[in-house]
Order: sequence, then structure tokens, then C-alpha cells
Amino acid sequence: MQKVTFKIRRFDGEKSWLQEYQFPYHPGKTILWALSYIKDSIDPTLTFTASCRHAVCGACAVRVNGQATLACETLLDKMLDRWKTDTLLIEPLQNFEVIRDLVVDWEAKVERLAEVKPWLIPRDEFSKETGCRQTPEDFKKINKNSDCILCGCCASECNKLSSNDRDFLGECLRFCVSGK
Ligand code: SF4
Ligand code: FES
Repeated sequence: MQKVTFKIRRFDGEKSWLQEYQFPYHPGKTILWALSYIKDSIDPTLTFTASCRHAVCGACAVRVNGQATLACETLLDKMLDRWKTDTLLIEPLQNFEVIRDLVVDWEAKVERLAEVKPWLIPRDEFSKETGCRQTPEDFKKINKNSDCILCGCCASECNKLSSNDRDFLGECLRFCVSGK
């Protein structure tokens, strides 16, 4: 295979369209590498977010052939092999408002999350001198939840959100991985 094609869902704030980009195939690269290649070498107007490039920050989540995934940890080879193709469809996450191209708006979801206070609240004995002490058992209770990097992939795949997000918190975030 000499070339790979991405069909990318673009959005300029008013209209949406699919744009095709062809770039040279390189083995062992990620979806994020390909998006960066397109932006750097073909079309600087292509807009997406990414930061850590190590599956830590959650900023690079997109849909590849309809499935939400982290672009920085998803191998291009794996996707091409899975669908036996040289062409992939790249779209923004579902169930979020799109701001531009592959960038989605988190504000509404963060506001809803804040309603259930999904953060640690110190006990009364908390003081600036001693901090908030925690036993290993206490830590185990919240350890799994703290694995969530708020990438939004689960919210994108959630059918409940697609059908109606007004009577639902709007997030599996932090909870889906812990099974709570
Ligand atoms: S729980 Fe959802 S938002 Fe958190 S890391 Fe998993 S897929 Fe991403
Ligand atoms: S760039 Fe941070 S998770 Fe992908």
C-alpha cells in the first residue's frame, strides 16, 4: 500500500462536509500522526485537539469508521487491517456539539457533571497542616474511578444520550469503567 485516504468530517461553524485527504503510508504510525501529517503538510485549516500523545489527557478522541477511540493510541495499521481498506472515515465524537471539524464542546457536559459533585470532599478533620489522610483501603475505593481521563469516548458511544440527553446526567464518565 502506497497511500492512505482519510475522509474527514469538516465543520466551519455553519456547514458540514466530508473532505478527502491522501497521504503516504508509513507502518507503525497512529491516527493522530496521520491527522498531524495532514495538518502540517496538506491542509493547515484542519482542526483537532491533542496534547499528551500518550493516552493520558483525553483530548484526541475522535470516531474512526464510527467508533470512538483515542487518536494518539490507535494504530493506523490496526484500523486499516480491521476494515480491510485503505480508506478511513474520521469524524468528531457523537453526542457533543461540534465547534469546528473534530473539536467538540465540553462545557454542557462539565456543567452537568458538576451537579453530582464527582470530586473528593475532605472530611471535617482536614487541615492545611496534615492534609487529608487516606488509608490504602480508602484509596482502593476510588482508585478505579480516578482512571478516567475524561476523553468522552463512552459518551460518544452511548445510545441513551443519542436518543435523549435531557433526562440523563450525560456521562458514563468516571463511572462506566468502575461498573458503578
Ligand atoms: S470512562 Fe469514558 S471518558 Fe473516562 S476514560 Fe473511559 S471512555 Fe474515556
Ligand atoms: S493526546 Fe492526550 S490522550 Fe491522546
